[in-house]
Amino acid sequence: MSDSDPAFLITGASSGIGAATARHAADAGYRLVLAARSVDRLGKLADELGGDQRALAVPCDVTQWDQQTAMVQTALEHFGRLDVVFANAGFGAPRGFLNSDPEHWRSMVLTNVYGAALTIRATFEALKETRGHLLLTGSVAGRRALPGSLYSATKWAVTAMGEAARQDLNGTGVRVTLIEPGMVDTPFFDNPVSNALEPDDVARAVMYAIAQPAHVDVNEILIRPTAQEG
Ligand SMILES: NC(=O)c1ccc[n+]([C@@H]2O[C@H](COP(=O)([O-])OP(=O)(O)OC[C@H]3O[C@@H](n4cnc5c(N)ncnc54)[C@H](OP(=O)(O)O)[C@@H]3O)[C@@H](O)[C@H]2O)c1
Repeated sequence: MSDSDPAFLITGASSGIGAATARHAADAGYRLVLAARSVDRLGKLADELGGDQRALAVPCDVTQWDQQTAMVQTALEHFGRLDVVFANAGFGAPRGFLNSDPEHWRSMVLTNVYGAALTIRATFEALKETRGHLLLTGSVAGRRALPGSLYSATKWAVTAMGEAARQDLNGTGVRVTLIEPGMVDTPFFDNPVSNALEPDDVARAVMYAIAQPAHVDVNEILIRPTAQEG
């Protein structure tokens, strides 16, 4: 472990896929920037992963541009570099265009789509500096339409954003990977789900993508639990 270890920023790090990825990345020697809105949960995870020198908790609502720029500034002041960025924050909504409520929809669209775009924008130059790696959490729901699902539409936008970012970053050395999970047993769901992936399963997919040699860009990983329907 040293002060020159690469730095890995995760949004949505307080829970589920983001928290599991933080643990795997820490094991692999990365220093972590852990971002989300839940300060308590971020603080506990940062302590577990070694405290400020190894894992920094940074409160950030990804829908707020000033909070995203402050997050990146704090990360660069603290670690001096950003090597991997995982734009992972997001949540769902009940299916059906007459279900959920418009304010929940607004918040979901702003988080899943606008928030991810802001993370790309805020970290773009820092990733170019390190010839780093950008990852986005899409979904199997971003590869196929689900009945009455605006959530699915937000993830179609993330699928497009990953490819748009990849082409925008061509020539910079920055790699771009879309992580597209099927059902994962996380607090994304109100109740535990069965026949689902564990957050660790998705974290291993992230680590696989970033462990490849610099000339290999794993653009998409679609990962479902075995025999998921749809
Ligand atoms: N679970 C699945 O089956 C599944 C499948 C495919 C894709 N995904 C995607 O995987 C990603 C992670 O979800 P998960 O399953 O790990 O669920 P989760 O455990 O509920 O984690 C969601 C994370 O997003 C953060 N978040 C939500 N709104 C935010 C905001 N405005 N600003 C900053 N952080 C915010 C949450 O933290 P705070 O509440 O502390 O802010 C939390 O850390 C999401 O993009 C989700 O759409 C999930």
